[in-house]
Amino acid sequence: MHKTVLITGGAGYIGSHTAFLMAQKGYRVIIIDALMHHQSFNHPWAQLIKQDFADKATLKQIFKHYTIDAVMHFAACIQVGQSVIDPGEYYDNNVVKTLSLLEMMRTHAVKKIIFSSSAAVYGNPHTTPITESHPTEPINPYGKTKLMVEQILRDYDSAYGIKSVSLRYFNAAGALPEHSLFEQHVPETHLIPLLLHAAQTGKPFTIFGTDHATPDGTCIRDYVHVYDIANAHACALEHLDKGMPTDVFNLGTAQGVSVKEMIAQTENMLGTSLKIVPHKRRQGDPPMLVADPSKAQGILQWQAYHSTLETIIKSAWLGYDLQTRQQRAKIIKELNN
Ligand code: UFG
Repeated sequence: MHKTVLITGGAGYIGSHTAFLMAQKGYRVIIIDALMHHQSFNHPWAQLIKQDFADKATLKQIFKHYTIDAVMHFAACIQVGQSVIDPGEYYDNNVVKTLSLLEMMRTHAVKKIIFSSSAAVYGNPHTTPITESHPTEPINPYGKTKLMVEQILRDYDSAYGIKSVSLRYFNAAGALPEHSLFEQHVPETHLIPLLLHAAQTGKPFTIFGTDHATPDGTCIRDYVHVYDIANAHACALEHLDKGMPTDVFNLGTAQGVSVKEMIAQTENMLGTSLKIVPHKRRQGDPPMLVADPSKAQGILQWQAYHSTLETIIKSAWLGYDLQTRQQRAKIIKELNN
């Protein structure tokens, strides 16, 4: 019999790629997602329940009706800047609602959860590359919510025996356009989709800060392909299935890429020249975030096989193009009706 995973936020960017991979691996995939960004989700390999991930009546039905082997919890508010402006929304959605989910898991004896954490738990790093033992000093409410849930998960293991793996993503990027999966955020704030948008529209691209303490003055990040991140979830579940303990892991490549380097690579691959506008620093941007992924490599047997810049940019570009064409087709259909 197929094992069943419940994926919260499975219609979102990283959640949908992971849902696809779990289905490929033979799991029955149930997604609970409120489709807050009005995104369409129409894939035969998952069952979508359109609902808030903390809705107790829906969770009760799911847990009663299916034997859920594990929960993969992606649903969250993710904009760092917005979390400073409206922390209440972040603490409610990311912490309070996660507690509801955990309580429902406890009631129905669901004992495994893989949690989407973030490099934002580290704050401004003291050392690079960052290992999991680096101090966790988040500098914004978003990072604090992720760290709080990690702490709650440790307590839920000690007290209730719910085992968890928290995966601290660095910069997720790329897509699987060949399976109609791509990056879409509303609003879009991420570097690569915005570069692709600038390339397609001819509109200027704004660099946030050219005076950071880095070799070319722009921020350095560790970009990891979303399919590698998806695969880490499968590895994490295998880890718990083997009876291994609750733990946290960085997901990155150990390779730092600056904003200027990403611009140059994008221009080179797309054969275009972008209009670049330097701007002051974005609040809360650490100059450099690069992972030491050796713990995930050693314990989870995980590798970032798809995370070359070429693969990331090419797949993101094909995904962006597909998304644009789908949006155009939708508008034409609406006009014709
Ligand atoms: N950037 C620009 N111009 C833009 C957009 C981004 O210069 O228009 C720069 C940012 O300042 C940053 C880099 O590109 O230096 C990457 O920015 P992203 O917004 O793509 O990603 P972040 O590193 O800010 O955020 C990522 C995740 C967050 C997570 C954070 C952890 O997307 O969810 O890492 O620090 F919280």
